[in-house]
Amino acid sequence: DDVVRFADMGYKRHVQATPLIRDKCRELILDNEKLKKLMEVCLDNVHRGLKKDTHAQAVVKCFPTYVQALPDGTEVGKFLALDLGGTNFRVLLIELSGEHFEMKSKIFAIPQHIMLGSGEQLFDHIAECLAIFVKEEHVADQKLPLGFTFSFPLEQRGLTKGILVSWTKGFKCSNVVGNDVVQMLDEAIERRGDVQIEVCAILNDTTGTLMSCAWKNHQTRIGLIVGTGSNACYVEKQENAELWQDVDMGSGKVLINLEWGAFGDDGGLDFVRTEYDEDVDKNSINPGKQKTRQTGTGEVYQRGPALRRQRFRHAVRERGRFYTKYVSEIESDPPGVFNNLREICEELGLKHATEQDYINIRFICECISRRSAHLVSAGLAALISTRSGRRRFHPHFHNLMMEKIKELVHPSIEFDLMLSEDGSGRGAALVAAVAARLQKTART
Ligand code: GLC
Repeated sequence: DDVVRFADMGYKRHVQATPLIRDKCRELILDNEKLKKLMEVCLDNVHRGLKKDTHAQAVVKCFPTYVQALPDGTEVGKFLALDLGGTNFRVLLIELSGEHFEMKSKIFAIPQHIMLGSGEQLFDHIAECLAIFVKEEHVADQKLPLGFTFSFPLEQRGLTKGILVSWTKGFKCSNVVGNDVVQMLDEAIERRGDVQIEVCAILNDTTGTLMSCAWKNHQTRIGLIVGTGSNACYVEKQENAELWQDVDMGSGKVLINLEWGAFGDDGGLDFVRTEYDEDVDKNSINPGKQKTRQTGTGEVYQRGPALRRQRFRHAVRERGRFYTKYVSEIESDPPGVFNNLREICEELGLKHATEQDYINIRFICECISRRSAHLVSAGLAALISTRSGRRRFHPHFHNLMMEKIKELVHPSIEFDLMLSEDGSGRGAALVAAVAARLQKTART
């Protein structure tokens, strides 16, 4: 029965995992019936987020971004960008000219004491990094437009006004929640007094991703991030975005930042949650929050079933020892080959792992990756259905998603998934550039 079921689900290669492991992983399988239900719940959440009278209670907030148009290729000039909210903090200088762009960037660390310190300290640090960068790039004397990618739940009141709703992803700086982060950045830049910058847009990384893909392919309508967090943004008609209030630049469209990481915080996802998810949630920095993020991204691995086995327990008991990047490395080995996994086991101090252990660990990783790809696919399929609208990456995520979305949407709908290259950086410059272009057109 087991073998048939797993073979059906496409797990044929892995029937060698021991029965106990297969048994423990069974609840990670999401069949299409569950995924279709998930699509429905997702759409219902999106509607509730968009509508004025349900927005306050909605968990998926669907914040309007005030980005009203996609790039059309006519954007030109030099732009600065800041990217905060992923693994690193980056400052970028981007020059756009027709089909081409040039980009320089520098990564800066955000030390733990700043991530958990005061808001003022955080923005002083950001302003300092910015000042160092513009001086190094010899553009300190030019007042360049800057796009700020700030990848946290932000309630936007305009293109340059965004109130932080809550911190996610390990940040917890005081006195920022409830405040306008653009103003905090402006004030920090002013406190220094040695650089001139015009912050002309604040955006989410999903928006940046959509913008940077749209610059290459004008058909792009959805931006998706699956990383430290997961989230999506899409192009919506202005009339449906009931919270949107701004001068209409004539496009009739507005980008919506879904903040779908919070999907499930009201129990709406309980039908797909497992004991492992509960465990991850209980031990997270913000229990009860961002349940999709936890389910869809890396956090489940470190608490997964294999790692509970006695012989592995001592090695991975400590929270955060089993990195998400391990999963991509493990699954990058061809089937039946365990070079990366062997190294990882050594790194973890597991000296006596057997081939059967390797098979089991890889099987678990694959089950969790597959579940994550399928969850994200259901979200995308929901959006596609109604709207028709150098790191190491996971080797199979794209294919898993293409296959699954095809199964979930109506066959008449054509779609494609493209990998965004540095969406949050380049996208910020593009948002700034499009805003500049629209302003120019509005004036003439
Ligand atoms: C978290 C943030 C969201 C961001 C996502 C991906 O869910 O709240 O704003 O887009 O992570 O980085």
